[in-house]
Amino acid sequence: MKKETREIYHPTMTSSARFILLAFLLLATVVPSKPQGFSEDLDPKRHGPGQEKLSHLHFYLHDTLAGRDPTAMRVAKAPLLQLVHNVVRRGKYNGSTLSVLWRNAPLEDLRELPILGGSGLFQFAQGYAHARTHYLDIVTGDAIVKYDVYVLHY
Ligand SMILES: *[C@@H]1O[C@H](CO)[C@@H](O)[C@H](O)[C@H]1NC(C)=O
Repeated sequence: MKKETREIYHPTMTSSARFILLAFLLLATVVPSKPQGFSEDLDPKRHGPGQEKLSHLHFYLHDTLAGRDPTAMRVAKAPLLQLVHNVVRRGKYNGSTLSVLWRNAPLEDLRELPILGGSGLFQFAQGYAHARTHYLDIVTGDAIVKYDVYVLHY
């Protein structure tokens, strides 16, 4: 992925440069200019995302909350739908996030969860995750869930 780094310099201005700048600023306030919008159009070739990629991530999550508040609580009390931000801590995606619309249905064999976005290497992300309950302890609510994530990003 190509990254553009910009450096901004603040050279010390000579007094004549300062005068010209001041004159320019004054002029700019007096002379009516084109209305300045809140947004601007960017050239997608220069600023836009690069080549779209499809990544497949798969991993197991041991779904227990540490301490006295086990997942059983969470499964029972969690809202039906929840936006979950997952921070990746491995490999080249370390620090990138994926936002998933999570559905509380641990007894379903296969859940499909939409990916709503992301950050870092997952900017502009969209896709879906297949969550399969690999192991579920109905007493404690502990679960091991296998995730297969298919994500389009740039
Ligand atoms: C992930 O990034 C964090 C913070 O930059 C760093 O402390 C950690 O060691 C990294 N982990 C891996 C597995 O690269």
